[in-house]
Amino acid sequence: MRKRWDATRGLGIRGFVACGPSLSGQSHSGFKWNPTLRRKFNMIALTCFRALHDGGGCVSVQPVAIAPTSIVALLRSQTQDAHSALEGQLGLLEQPASTEYYAQLLSRFLGFHLVWEEDLKAFPELACELEMRSRLRNLRHDLRTLGVTDAGISSVPLCGGAHSLTANEARALGSFYVLEGSTLGGQLITRHLSSAHWLPAEGLSYFNPYGSRTGEMWRSFRRWLESQAQHHAASDIVAGARATFVVLQKWLAG
Ligand code: HEM
Repeated sequence: MRKRWDATRGLGIRGFVACGPSLSGQSHSGFKWNPTLRRKFNMIALTCFRALHDGGGCVSVQPVAIAPTSIVALLRSQTQDAHSALEGQLGLLEQPASTEYYAQLLSRFLGFHLVWEEDLKAFPELACELEMRSRLRNLRHDLRTLGVTDAGISSVPLCGGAHSLTANEARALGSFYVLEGSTLGGQLITRHLSSAHWLPAEGLSYFNPYGSRTGEMWRSFRRWLESQAQHHAASDIVAGARATFVVLQKWLAG
């Protein structure tokens, strides 16, 4: 049976063991624990840990090992290496890029999104979320701004590898995290490229689709993802995210 993602997993409860019940049911001070007391203690420990983790608490206990408490935190930590690899490959912050390079890159992203967004619609909850997050319009707009013709835009090669990313809902959720997360790094990219003489300012909407609403859109996506993740194995979602970086790396290099 697959393990489901559970908000209480990896909460570092171990960190409270020093002051909590031992396995024998007897604390170090000789105090007797019964199951009800132990349950209550765990609830309090959990509340304290959440307060600490959310930064809103002022309790003095410190968990020993802080594991990721949310699927987003887990995804971030588990895809860091893949993100760095893709970021390095694109080199958008380093090389003196050109209109041709950027147009080629956006054409490849369009070939990816066309396949991936269509496949995502197979899952009703994801389809609904995608309605306000589709990047197809942004890509077409930016490509036109860069001088690509409508004929060129409608004949971009399609990324066949993207199909595998939506083989099931959990993987699709992981891939959604990757593409939506790119709007965060997109802020840095936008700032960097906005001074590039070869790129008209209006040509940056793919990496900056939400403008001043970026933070708000990310927070609402995160909330949505956390609730969706409860129905799936965290490992499947992470696998989907990692696979997305791999597919993109290969596809964007083409
Ligand atoms: C030159 C290219 C890129 C740079 C410099 C870059 C940079 C960054 C930075 C600085 C952040 C952290 C933003 C923050 O915490 O406020 C970030 C987050 C992220 N980026 Fe990128 N990024 C790049 C490309 C991409 C691409 C192409 C993708 C995927 C298609 C991507 C996916 C993500 C994801 C998933 C996050 C993490 C969101 C989170 O969990 O906090 N990035 N990026």
